[in-house]
Amino acid sequence: MTEPCMKVNLAGVELKSPVVVASGTFGFGREYGQFYDLSELGGICVKGLTAQRREGNPAPRIAETPMGILNSVGLQNPGVDAFIAEELPFLRQYDVKVIANISGNTPEEYGEMCEKLSAAGVDMIEVNISCPNVKAGGLAYGTKPELAAEVTHMAKSHSTVPVMVKLSPNVTDITEIARAVADAGADALSLINTLRGMRIDINTRRPILKMNTGGLSGPAVLPVAVRMVWEVAQAVNLPILGMGGVSKADDAAQLMLAGASAVAVGTACFADPYTPVKVRDGLKELAQAQGLESIAQLTGGVRPW
Ligand SMILES: Cc1cc2nc3c(=O)[nH]c(=O)nc-3n(C[C@H](O)[C@H](O)[C@H](O)COP(=O)(O)O)c2cc1C
Repeated sequence: MTEPCMKVNLAGVELKSPVVVASGTFGFGREYGQFYDLSELGGICVKGLTAQRREGNPAPRIAETPMGILNSVGLQNPGVDAFIAEELPFLRQYDVKVIANISGNTPEEYGEMCEKLSAAGVDMIEVNISCPNVKAGGLAYGTKPELAAEVTHMAKSHSTVPVMVKLSPNVTDITEIARAVADAGADALSLINTLRGMRIDINTRRPILKMNTGGLSGPAVLPVAVRMVWEVAQAVNLPILGMGGVSKADDAAQLMLAGASAVAVGTACFADPYTPVKVRDGLKELAQAQGLESIAQLTGGVRPW
């Protein structure tokens, strides 16, 4: 039997497999590179970058939940210039697409970062308008269609590489934001970011996280992600990077059937660093078992009742 083709295309960027790693769960790849060759991956969405270095929020900033975690890391990162000088050359040793994830305080900051990152030669830019853990910018851009469009426009007009906008699930109608971003010229969409949540210690009556609330991720959010990818895929004609709760090939296949061209693995990497590789191998087996010539044939293949 011939092997299924595992290549997929995400807004003109060819990925050797549909499995990438999600921003903020893989750092800049250095730690995971001790486990396996990073060239095994389809792509790496790097930790969210900001114009200046950020220390992030005070601890505790991770809390376990049933089938997931809450985090309030708050975009701890060395800043875009240090990324370009120190981390990008490391990543460039590998045959893997590098997707720079960015967050700005203002639309202008997004533009500046896009210009620098395009010039530095990243393969794609993922514009985070959905971080629930920062006060300025962050989620505000992702919940208002006009602001989401303004940031998208700014990013597009300062980029020479494809721009993918990362949507928040913390909205009533995600298709409204998706349409605004698509109309503003985005090349692709990624979804979902984390869902806002909270845990409380019943003895101290204190929230577990120092920031009180955080973002929920992990297997608990998969059905929400599948539903949102499905809705967005019907609303706009853009390629989608689907994520949220993927820990095995079956999960990834669901996101692809719902309409995703590629999938990202996030929280599951913490429990098992090999998850992205296992998900890729599992998808290949699934394609073989279903007699597909190409894994891309899964995309949008759901048969709704
Ligand atoms: C600890 C942590 C840090 C994160 N940091 C970022 C970030 O910097 N930028 C971003 O766009 N998403 C960030 N995310 C969201 C993930 O990229 C992903 O959208 C979300 O966790 C859902 O996928 P998962 O359930 O597979 O983790 C972070 C998630 C976690 C758990």
